[in-house]
Amino acid sequence: MGDQGQGKTAYRSMVETAFAQSVPLSAQFEITYRCNHLCTFCYNSPTGQRELRTPQIFDILKKVSDFGVLYLTLTGGEPLCHRDFYKIAGEVRRLGMALRIYSNGYLMSDPKVVEKIMALKPLEVEISLHGARPESHEALTKIKGSFDKTVQAIELLSRAGQKVNLKCPITRHNQDELFEVRKIADKYGYYVTFDPVITPKDDGDTGPLSLRPDDAFFTRYWEEDYIKLHDGRLPPRANHCAPEGTEAVCGAARTGFTLDPYGNMFPCVAFRRKIGNLLEIDKIEDIWGDSPVLAQVRGLGVDARDKLNKREDGKYFTFCMGVAETQLGDPLAIYPQAETNARAVRQAYELLKIEDESGKKSA
Ligand SMILES: C[S@@+](CC[C@H](N)C(=O)[O-])C[C@H]1O[C@@H](n2cnc3c(N)ncnc32)[C@H](O)[C@@H]1O
Ligand code: SF4
Repeated sequence: MGDQGQGKTAYRSMVETAFAQSVPLSAQFEITYRCNHLCTFCYNSPTGQRELRTPQIFDILKKVSDFGVLYLTLTGGEPLCHRDFYKIAGEVRRLGMALRIYSNGYLMSDPKVVEKIMALKPLEVEISLHGARPESHEALTKIKGSFDKTVQAIELLSRAGQKVNLKCPITRHNQDELFEVRKIADKYGYYVTFDPVITPKDDGDTGPLSLRPDDAFFTRYWEEDYIKLHDGRLPPRANHCAPEGTEAVCGAARTGFTLDPYGNMFPCVAFRRKIGNLLEIDKIEDIWGDSPVLAQVRGLGVDARDKLNKREDGKYFTFCMGVAETQLGDPLAIYPQAETNARAVRQAYELLKIEDESGKKSA
């Protein structure tokens, strides 16, 4: 049974209002591009510029908090590789924002680190797990022993009672292990998100796409495996950041934004059109309403939705304007991966004879 068709929660209503009025509830802050892994597909593209110093990060966090952002995700790079990680995370909490941490888990295999994380009372910790065994995980991270460290981190966080989500981007290395990855998550009672979209690097390098599983895998994944891996839930027919039926294809420039380690602000982690630099403005209000980039991206989100709505199969698409732009140079261009996925998702709905808009089984 999917989320679709369920009664609306207060949280859902808040997200829909924020979406309609372009009020950002959340932000991601890449506090450093330093990392202790060498993932071959990593989208990060450091420019060689000097990264923000800690007082500058504090200054930016204050602006983000004053703007009313409720959820702040510290990411990177590996955020725990920032030498002032705990000070920065402590500041997020002191400012009253809920803290999410995206991590590869390596450093959290140390009980003392987990103790310090727990003291921050994070809302959520998201850990990337790239396979069910060392061979597959480390084929991506290129760090020997990293699988055991990450699994140890998951074990320690679980014992400490921390809410954890696992993330598993689907690659050629792990495509046949998804049920085993799910088993690891189940052992700890954690949810695992399988991400079928491998993106190009932020600088446009399409090298990471070579790690994507092939089309035969995706057909099987959407038609059969997705439902089994997700306790009977149906494949999504909208981006997770855009409630179904809304005017725009996603929440870019609406419900959130992303900051890089140089202070630059972008509409979304995957859509890197620079809005401005937060060191150069007094308050975010100064650009959020007036920025031509934001207006353009909001408009593109509507254009993309319209374009999909005109297609007979448009309602089966999850579509990322950032991926379209980096892959094809046009944020509205339908990239092959989106089409393949939509075809398979449609097939899944048709196989299950689901025809009504609510996504409930009709037969
Ligand atoms: C850039 S990492 C930063 C946080 C942390 N270092 C980690 O690996 O979880 C954020 C997430 O993006 C994923 N990721 C990195 N490059 C990617 C790509 N090209 N396509 C899809 N996911 C990617 C990572 O696996 C991770 O789950
Ligand atoms: S651990 Fe995260 S930041 Fe580091 S290389 Fe891998 S994906 Fe990139």
